[in-house]
Amino acid sequence: MPAPHAAPRHYLRFKDFSRKEYEHLFARTRWIKDRYKRYQRYWPLEDRTLAMIFEKQSTRTRLSFEAGMHQLGGAAIFLSTRDSQLGRGEPAEDAAQVISRMCDIVMIRTFEQDIIDRFAANSRVPVINGLTNEYHPCQILADIYTFIEHRGSIRGRTVAWIGDSNNVCNTWLQAAEVFDFNVHVSTPPGYEVEPERAGLYGTDHYEEFADPMKAAKGAHLVTTDVWTSMGFESENKQRRRDFEDWQVDAAMMKVARKDALFMHCLPAHRGEEVAAAVIDGRQSVVWDEAENRLHTQKALLEFLLLGKVKG
Ligand code: CP
Ligand code: NVA
Repeated sequence: MPAPHAAPRHYLRFKDFSRKEYEHLFARTRWIKDRYKRYQRYWPLEDRTLAMIFEKQSTRTRLSFEAGMHQLGGAAIFLSTRDSQLGRGEPAEDAAQVISRMCDIVMIRTFEQDIIDRFAANSRVPVINGLTNEYHPCQILADIYTFIEHRGSIRGRTVAWIGDSNNVCNTWLQAAEVFDFNVHVSTPPGYEVEPERAGLYGTDHYEEFADPMKAAKGAHLVTTDVWTSMGFESENKQRRRDFEDWQVDAAMMKVARKDALFMHCLPAHRGEEVAAAVIDGRQSVVWDEAENRLHTQKALLEFLLLGKVKG
């Protein structure tokens, strides 16, 4: 049984880590990725177990955490609402007490941020946010690492966010405060950023634009996400109408910088939030972005379980 920690470190929102800690994570990601590509075994998490709790669907998050844990020598256990007592109303607090006595680290994908916050407050072991209605920190961890791989430091750059001010957008906005870059956000009316829900310290790292073309102008990175996130399916019909003019297409990429990248957390809907010509085009780095979920999260697991490993 894992030794109880006085106060385990959690990763529940992007701003839980400092810029310095991210710099450590990115250095470790480079090292771990390089070893993995050369088929060199690295098993620092032998005998450690990750519990993964999914209350929403997933391909990338499940696969990257499960494969990542195996590649680090540990084990991962998948629990879903459908086949655990969580689906029958066991309180998050009780589940946390039990699960954190049997496993060394927990990843949760759920609905309101409050659920994961309550779970973490009752957990003996680190808890990782694998997506909530409000945030998706593991995604932006991979996205920023991917940007740095392609273009170097993100400090002082401009990221254009086109579409819904959802969990992924909120996390970009937190990241802008941590890394000191700017986000140009364009949402349809009624879907604007809510700074408090986004968990921001202030409003000086982003600017809102009614016209998505103006938001994209001069951007180093253009990014978007689905018009309807998981949990909001009942709004789908209305959203399809409201977001019609918020598609990242070739004309929009043209007003961004010539060397601008395109990112999307995936899954994508070609013909809705992004044109096929963009996501399948030369500026798109979406497959690198997806792959880097694996490498960055391995560094995250190592950091939360073993602290600052040198190497
Ligand atoms: N981007 C992302 O989190 O993908 P999944 O929903 O497939 O996990
Ligand atoms: N905003 C999307 C991201 C999926 C990875 C959702 O929450 O459904």
